[in-house]
Amino acid sequence: MAKPRGKQVPQAAPKSSQQDTSLDKGRLSSNTMLFGFLAIAVLGAAVYVNASPKLGVAFAGTRACDELPAQAQRINQKAFNVLPAVLPLTESNATTFFHPPGTDTESLKARPFHVYDDEFLNVIGSNPKLSLIAHEASGNPIFHEAVVWYPPTEEVFFVQNAGAPAAGTGLNKSSLIYKISLAQAEAVIDKVNASGLVDVVEAPSNPTVVNPNGGTNYKGQILFAAEGQGANIPSELVIMNPVEPYNTTVLLNNYFGRQFSSLNDLAVNPKNNDVYFTDTLYGYLQNFRPPPGLRNQVYRYNDVTGAVTVVADGFVLPNGVTFSPDGTKAYVADTGANQGFWGWNQSEPSTIYSYDVLADGTWDNRKTFSYIDSGVPDGVHCDTNGNVYAGCGDGIHVWNPSGKLLGKIYLGETSANFNFAGNGRMVICAETNLYFAEFAAVGGTYIY
Ligand SMILES: *[C@@H]1O[C@H](CO)[C@@H](O)[C@H](O)[C@H]1NC(C)=O
Ligand SMILES: *[C@@H]1O[C@H](CO)[C@@H](O)[C@H](O)[C@H]1NC(C)=O
Ligand SMILES: *[C@@H]1O[C@H](CO)[C@@H](O)[C@H](O)[C@H]1NC(C)=O
Ligand SMILES: *[C@@H]1O[C@H](CO)[C@@H](O)[C@H](O)[C@H]1NC(C)=O
Ligand SMILES: *[C@@H]1O[C@H](CO)[C@@H](O)[C@H](O)[C@H]1NC(C)=O
Repeated sequence: MAKPRGKQVPQAAPKSSQQDTSLDKGRLSSNTMLFGFLAIAVLGAAVYVNASPKLGVAFAGTRACDELPAQAQRINQKAFNVLPAVLPLTESNATTFFHPPGTDTESLKARPFHVYDDEFLNVIGSNPKLSLIAHEASGNPIFHEAVVWYPPTEEVFFVQNAGAPAAGTGLNKSSLIYKISLAQAEAVIDKVNASGLVDVVEAPSNPTVVNPNGGTNYKGQILFAAEGQGANIPSELVIMNPVEPYNTTVLLNNYFGRQFSSLNDLAVNPKNNDVYFTDTLYGYLQNFRPPPGLRNQVYRYNDVTGAVTVVADGFVLPNGVTFSPDGTKAYVADTGANQGFWGWNQSEPSTIYSYDVLADGTWDNRKTFSYIDSGVPDGVHCDTNGNVYAGCGDGIHVWNPSGKLLGKIYLGETSANFNFAGNGRMVICAETNLYFAEFAAVGGTYIY
């Protein structure tokens, strides 16, 4: 479903890095938080001056080569190859935020599209935008994962974090599925903070999908990977009708009579339409599922024969899974460094692995695709050019198919998952915050 990009009015953009030190009053005056924003813009300007004004590649568009979009900033990796002080593990690690020289939290958030490589300019286009469209003041982590676009109603669904019982979520909260309207999100995209202006509406599944965590489009409906609860509600793959009465049907709930540990994420391969899903330990590590009776691994479900097979193992904690748009590459995130109640172990994976998907649907040629610099990579998705996006500790990271870091959509907080919603639109979950982004790239792996 194509979204007309032409209707957007381009914002005034800095002419060059030097000129950006003068404030763009036309743009700022439309912002209600004028004074706070002015301070941020000044900090952002300092970043620009540090960066090289020269672009090495031609930019696909009408913009001159030395211009950056208004909400983008370049991060010069050469500038931090040698730091004055490199802090020890107790101060600089996977759970801390790295601020490249000349930046701070405010400046990094003020222009959230971070260009690490000029190839990222083709991903974000000439006028990328990011808006906070909802905030959950109660502290309930309702914007967690399973972000699924449903084109017929132009809605995007997502689910609450199951979390540990200590977080007080409980089944009546942890099994909640919500949705937003994309029309409402698009209407407020020019506001940096549109919290309160987009309705977050519950979609009560029936029977309830117990602790859904992964989600994808499936035969015109939504397929969830549900983690289950306690010893007697097993993990399941469950199909939900995306319109009222949100009725559900279980597709799979066992492996030859044995419970899965806690199903985490799933993806449909566009070549063979089989469902590939990860099973992992988080239900146990978050205290709501018993110790595992199966290995942490990736399974494949064939809907024609009902066959369930294993396509990959050797992970610590397999998590997000996705395919390249042509279905020939599979990506699996391993979040082994974050071990729930066992704590963090920085020598375990914070890693995305890639595989070749062979003609028969089996996987081969496991490669280390990327090792994440902030937090762990959770949800993974591709665009139509095969670029790979992952929800990480400080926002969304983007790599080209060779594993080169192109850039980040910087949130300054963790995104467990997100998804494209057609041309140039993305919905990003960050637990108590929900973001909407518009930029050039198009989501690549819809099986609708
Ligand atoms: C990582 O750094 C933070 C902030 O200094 C600290 O609280 C935490 O304990 C560190 N983690 C490790 C494993 O040292
Ligand atoms: C959960 O919701 C059901 C149905 O509304 C209700 O009967 C039950 O008491 C609730 N449980 C808790 C713990 O709030
Ligand atoms: C966003 O706006 C809401 C409503 O005006 C306000 O309560 C909240 O503090 C703002 N959040 C941020 C991050 O500015
Ligand atoms: C929902 O109910 C309708 C009507 O009975 C049925 O056709 C459909 O298959 C159901 N969908 C799911 C996911 O259970
Ligand atoms: C962290 O992981 C490594 C590698 O598996 C293991 O040898 C080590 O014992 C772990 N450390 C802790 C504190 O669990």
